[in-house]
Amino acid sequence: MCGIVGATAERRVAEILLEGLRRLEYRGYDSAGMALLNNAGMVKVRRVGKVKELADAIERDGVNGHVGIAHTRWATHGGVTEANAHPHVSNNELAVVHNGIIENHESLRETLQGLGYQFDSQTDTEVIAHLVHHELKSATTLLAAVQNAVKQLDGAYGTVIMDQRDPGQLVVARSGSPLVIGLGIGENFVASDQLALLPVTRKFIYLEEGDVAAVSRESVAIFDRDGNAVERDVITSDLQYDAGGKGEYRHFMLKEIHEQPFAVRNTLEGRVLDGKIAVDAFGAQAEDIFKQTKHVQIIACGTSYHAGMVAKYWLEALAGVSCNVEIASEFRYRKSHVFPNSLLVTISQSGETADTLAALRLAKEIGYQASLTVCNVASSSMVRESDLAFLTRAGAEIGVASTKAFTTQLAGLLMLTAAIGRFHGMSSSTEARIAKALSSLPTKLEECMSITGAIEKLAPEFADKEHSLFLGRGEQYPIAMEGALKLKEISYIHAEAYASGELKHGPLALIDAEMPVIVVAPNNELLEKLKSNVEEVRARGGIMYVFADSKANFKSDDSMRVINLAHVDELIAPIIYTLPLQLLSYYVAIIKGTDVDQPRNLAKSVTVE
Ligand code: G6P
Repeated sequence: MCGIVGATAERRVAEILLEGLRRLEYRGYDSAGMALLNNAGMVKVRRVGKVKELADAIERDGVNGHVGIAHTRWATHGGVTEANAHPHVSNNELAVVHNGIIENHESLRETLQGLGYQFDSQTDTEVIAHLVHHELKSATTLLAAVQNAVKQLDGAYGTVIMDQRDPGQLVVARSGSPLVIGLGIGENFVASDQLALLPVTRKFIYLEEGDVAAVSRESVAIFDRDGNAVERDVITSDLQYDAGGKGEYRHFMLKEIHEQPFAVRNTLEGRVLDGKIAVDAFGAQAEDIFKQTKHVQIIACGTSYHAGMVAKYWLEALAGVSCNVEIASEFRYRKSHVFPNSLLVTISQSGETADTLAALRLAKEIGYQASLTVCNVASSSMVRESDLAFLTRAGAEIGVASTKAFTTQLAGLLMLTAAIGRFHGMSSSTEARIAKALSSLPTKLEECMSITGAIEKLAPEFADKEHSLFLGRGEQYPIAMEGALKLKEISYIHAEAYASGELKHGPLALIDAEMPVIVVAPNNELLEKLKSNVEEVRARGGIMYVFADSKANFKSDDSMRVINLAHVDELIAPIIYTLPLQLLSYYVAIIKGTDVDQPRNLAKSVTVE
């Protein structure tokens, strides 16, 4: 999704801005641009395509400056064209970059056109440029003009504005889209994500909702939504930017798949001790809150939603609480019933997904007992705004298709099951079994990597297929959904997942030799029922790929390829069976030649609705 970087310094900033954009590339985008102020005034360079195209153009034109703003755009309003790429400029004097969506852009556009402003793009962002330019006719400073302008904006924005009549200063405003200020010595920076600024600073200030700030080389002045001067905490980041290299791997996604044993080990570190789960891993108040919790409402999007669906099976079977799981974009716009003592759990890799964040904020208004986020980014809005937080510690995930974030979320959610269950009648032997299964997980994941070669050999059989079906039962049903999501995200093959019991209620009609059916079949109490579903597919000429427990006794034949996995405790089977499905989608995408780490049209962190 869109990325923002800005800088004001004595040194030239074009390369700092470009490096910042490169570090945000993983989020997904379709065009990039930069505006710089120098002695000659303002220069603007924009390109459709990769940051490399922009960097080449900037180098070729020899463009630079001491103040600048840059942006990667993921199109929402207006097609992917150079004219729609940011920055947007008003009267060649004032430039704006913006993340988010201005919902009242049409009426503002009409008003501004009436005032004589000409629009060069189809974007909602361009209204900010002209609106601030207009406000600056009556306001005495750029800061005051931005403060007046944002009062007229509906929707979400993280925006940075610079003006050649007031060079040296960046004015930033945040409402609904994250922005961070990076503090240097005699220079300051802004970005939509601290990752972009790690080469230049480790000191950051996170703006809060409604904040507007004036950032110059020597000072940062922050004002809240009412215009009061406010101090915000300065944090020192210890984030490791390991995205710089893919190491021995061809893609970040493959590296991140292989990092899973290590990532899960990190998730568990110091939190599973002597057969018990450390409840305070969820926050200092966790014990008090979990004792009162009677119901869990999970809210998430995408892959994180699938993690939530697995957690529902665990929580209801083991922890003695009821649980609902809902997609954030649905939950936030419907009137829902709040059960007494209901804990709202958001699950998010980024902690910034707009719909999930909005659902969290809504939950505070409608009477939830408390909120917990299971999240990978300690500095994210969700962590900062939730009562409790469990950090998954997966490390930076760069591939747009989520892998290690998912398996670490699952590890965290199994811990949550034990942590809540302890106060609701779960026996200490069940907690000890969960602890033991979790402790074995990193090694089991490592061992599971040995199937990589077998999966690589299977992948060519999918390359010419247009559709596929994934089947699972019980807590493996959401794993089948996640497998289908991975395949469609990066190989662009249409993939659907079904709970295998639903097969005869529709999808069976689709089965033929051109529709591969992928089955996730661990050795649990549903195995015999799953075997019947497999026979239903076989009888209709379907070709199956079965990922099965070695004890489940599936045999390869003309209509079925069996890939055996070592037997594991069924508690952790959903986490283990995720891995072959990730590898399958990866190797199919390689054969199809897609952009694995940045698949078309997708974004890593969806900060707009
Ligand atoms: C995007 C990403 C997915 C991710 C989803 C939710 O769609 O491409 O990989 O699962 O957002 O993101 P979150 O950061 O909230 O987990």
